[in-house]
This record gives sequence, C-alpha cells and structure tokens, in this order.
Amino acid sequence: MTRRIILDCDPGHDDAMAILLAHGTPEVSLAAITTVAGNHPLELTTLNALRVCSLAGIRDVPVAAGCAAPLARPLLTAPEIHGTTGLEGHDWDEPAVRAVAEHAVDVIIEMVMSAPGEITIVPIGPLTNIAMAVRKEPRIAWRAREVVLMGGSYTGGNVTPGAEFNIYVDPEAAAMVFEAGWPVTMVGLEVTRMANASEAVFERIAALNTPVANAVEGMLRFYQRQQQTSVGVNEPPVHDPCAVARVANPGLVPCREARVEVELGDGPTKGMTLVDFRRRDGTQANAMVGTGLEVEGFWDLFIGSLGATPPTPAPARGASAPG
Ligand code: BDR
Ligand code: CA
Repeated sequence: MTRRIILDCDPGHDDAMAILLAHGTPEVSLAAITTVAGNHPLELTTLNALRVCSLAGIRDVPVAAGCAAPLARPLLTAPEIHGTTGLEGHDWDEPAVRAVAEHAVDVIIEMVMSAPGEITIVPIGPLTNIAMAVRKEPRIAWRAREVVLMGGSYTGGNVTPGAEFNIYVDPEAAAMVFEAGWPVTMVGLEVTRMANASEAVFERIAALNTPVANAVEGMLRFYQRQQQTSVGVNEPPVHDPCAVARVANPGLVPCREARVEVELGDGPTKGMTLVDFRRRDGTQANAMVGTGLEVEGFWDLFIGSLGATPPTPAPARGASAPG
C-alpha cells in the first residue's frame, strides 16, 4: 500500500536524495514537501527543495516554507558539510516550480487534519515545524498516522560527542515531538552510518546515466570530499533517505521500543537523545528506535528509485506547484 508522506526537510545533499527516493519509489507518495532552517537558512533550504523538484520533474507536490529559526535558540547551520549553496556537486538550473504561499506549519496541520490516520510525517531536519504544528493544533497527534524522523543517536553524535545535528539544532522542538503522544520512530545515526556510499554504489548510480542519477553522483562526490576532509570518512553516509526507506519498507530498518529523552541543558550533553531500551524504572516507551539497516536492500531501494525517476522535463519557467 502506498504511504502518503509529508517530507519536512532542510536540503542539504542527503535531504535532496531523500526527496528523490520518496518521489521515485512506488511505496511512498509525496503529499507535500515542507522546508525548515537547518543545514542552511530557510531561504536556501527552500530554494534547494525547489531545485530538486525541478530536476526530478516533481510538479504536483506543494512545497511550503516553514520556520526560519529554532524555537528557543539561534540557528546553527552546516555549510562545512553541504557547501555554500547547500547542494554543491551539481550545476543547478533556476527552479521551474515555486513554493506555495502558505506556511509549512499550516500545510502540515491542514493535510493531517483532513486525512485522519493517513499521513506519515517524515522530518529529516530540525523539528521546529513539527513542534510548532503540534503546538498550534494538538489534535494532529491523533490524526497523523505516525512520525518517522531522521535524528538522534544512542552511541555518539556528529556535532558533539553526544548529539546528532537535527536534534542539537532545536532540542526543545525535538523534546516536544517525542512527547506529543503520536507514534514516533527515530532513525538515528546507528542506522544512517550503515548507509555509506561505497565505490560499488557510486558505480551503480553512474551506470544509470540519467540527469537525476548524474546529479546524485555529483552531489555524492562533493559530499564524499567534505566527509574525507572533515571526519576522515571515505564512504559518505546518506542519512536522510534512511527515514524514507523505513516508511517504504519497514523491514529495512529494524527497531526496538524505547523511551527517548532529549537533553535540554546547555552543558556538554546538550541535544543528546537519551535512549532507554530497558526502562527498568517502569517508564513508558515513547518511540521505536532504529537499531540497524538492511544495507543491500536499502541501496536496491534507493538506486531503484533513481532509475524510476523520469528524466528532467523541459523547463516550464514560472510554473507554480499547485497548493
Ligand atoms: C542530519 O544532519 C544534516 O546535516 C543531514 O541533512 C541529516 O539530516 C544528520 O545528522
Ligand atoms: Ca537533513
């Protein structure tokens, strides 16, 4: 059965790949793409989402810009990982689609409220939009099918020794999302660090030789160089598509029930996700937490989705995505 998702993102290379996966896999249908400040300021994450949509010929999915800053802290971005444009490694055309006028928070609320039990929210950036939406309309916690987010970790972070980027940027928002009462799945670094693009993966993507696959290969090569320089890793981890993969084929990301608390203090553990699988004190679980990745199945799904993505249509400048 096809799962309708709202993809809340901050593109970013791996966000771009998550959009392409969601578009190209038949198990998932994109109801909306919403953008948030994270890897880059909001203006750039929104422009990048529109660029990716234009490249992939995504014309019928509303793209809505959301929050420009975290709930209670200054914005922290990641240009050292994603480059100054946020999507370096490919020469992007001017987008052929525009964002809708509505705010992302209202798009999320309207879509979830009008389709009870149907919409899966897939946040792959800081959780600001999702927290704002559930604060503004708490009933979405009962109306959404589930939330499957990329973020967090229980074995060490990527911004600090303990914290993962999406949670670290807006920990207050993350805490609200884990506490809202809806089914939450956390696809954290334990999962996404297994989605490393090896040379064999590069070759499979290059062999597709479509405009979309060539763009992905270019972005991955840039991302690989950044990872080599910043953390000495040769095979870049493709974080965000793992959350989409969990929705498309849950068996690819095994999960265990846990209680997740977000550290809100300003000390060295700020933004950490404290994941308690054992809950010896009897506390209630509030999330399913990803513990691994079926690596071959993941790459088959991802590369298959690129093959399915139709080539770039001729640009229709000025066309706007319907709301
Ligand atoms: C997360 O941080 C961002 O830089 C990536 O896009 C991903 O969502 C990984 O920690
Ligand atoms: Ca992201």
